[in-house]
Amino acid sequence: MQFLTDELEAMKRDGLYGTIRTIESPQGAWVRIAGKDHLNLCSNNYLGLCNDPKVVGRVKEYVDKWGVGPGAVRTIAGTMTPHIELERRLAKFKGAEAAIVLQSGFCANLAVIPTLVPAAEDTIYSDSLNHASIIDACRLTKARVVRYGHSDLADLEAKLREHRGNPGRHLLVTDGVFSMDGDIAKLPEIVELCEAFGVIVVVDDAHGEGVLGRGGRGIADHFGLHGRVDVEVGTMSKAFGVMGGMIAGSATLIDYIRQKARPNLFSSALTIPDVAANLASVDILEESEARVNRLRENGDFLKRELSAAGFDTGHSETPITPVIIGEASDAKTFSAELFKKGVFATAIVFPTVPRGTARIRCMVSAAHTKEDLRFAVERFVEVGRGMGILP
Ligand SMILES: Cc1ncc(COP(=O)(O)O)c(C=O)c1O
Repeated sequence: MQFLTDELEAMKRDGLYGTIRTIESPQGAWVRIAGKDHLNLCSNNYLGLCNDPKVVGRVKEYVDKWGVGPGAVRTIAGTMTPHIELERRLAKFKGAEAAIVLQSGFCANLAVIPTLVPAAEDTIYSDSLNHASIIDACRLTKARVVRYGHSDLADLEAKLREHRGNPGRHLLVTDGVFSMDGDIAKLPEIVELCEAFGVIVVVDDAHGEGVLGRGGRGIADHFGLHGRVDVEVGTMSKAFGVMGGMIAGSATLIDYIRQKARPNLFSSALTIPDVAANLASVDILEESEARVNRLRENGDFLKRELSAAGFDTGHSETPITPVIIGEASDAKTFSAELFKKGVFATAIVFPTVPRGTARIRCMVSAAHTKEDLRFAVERFVEVGRGMGILP
């Protein structure tokens, strides 16, 4: 077992060893760490729902009525009414015929890809910056995986032409919003190409749900593509403020996933508190667009201010705001200096992003006030000047 120590030491030497902070308060715009309040720019709590009183209240109500655990896998122990209620509400919210909920967004990708394209004769087209859960889902099939350049439509079309003669099923999978840069997949063009080549389209809308589209209905709504995206994968761990994965699409697709996907057949359902909290989050999203609008305003504000201060904020089209620093060690020092000044913003380094593009990724929330964001910008400028990154 010596390799464990050797590799951990090597990670520390290379500045790639991550320190995980302990949060001593509920999630929110500010969090308590090491006994002190810090502005939180790390969480995916886009709409501030993680500790919303309505969400917490619904959990208490449901736990009193239903208890906590689902008992076993749904196909064996039966499925409880709240899970069915959540699936119906999510399908309506997404404008899809049906939906299924799973334990996480990670599990949702593992449920879709190996189930729809399991065979060696099948072909998967995958964006080169797709999320790790998609990459792992592709590893669980025998299908040939064809990577195309990130959002490179010319490369995608060339690969579709090259492989069009392959027997078996063809499926394309892309993140909707790319989480490290905040750019949006060119979904209308991707759908057109896939329609022309007879390819199934799967989009992982993890960072689009509650963020893009009318009232946060996601990427298909954002582009007016309802009915043309075959499979929408999502997570309730980000804007919904809870935990859980979802798959939305046709009633036949969901029936098929329910019968055949291994995360549904061999892993138990979400707990009642998760389901109850998610039901309350859907209610909140359907009641008002105010939080989604505030999130967008906050994202625009932070990007504008950081870029005006002289930082490289990349090409984000969403509230995700990367501040590109370059070397991993510099990004880590930057993050540590911010932390001393009361800002919690983790450095993202290789292998999560390519070498030389290490960054501080600022995750904006509707829970932040303009004052919070001004505080962040001032601290970024102080650290940037101190490190010689800004003049
Ligand atoms: C694109 C994408 N897919 C899936 C996931 C996994 O979601 P979950 O946290 O619900 O497992 C994430 C989370 O980081 C993500 O960004």
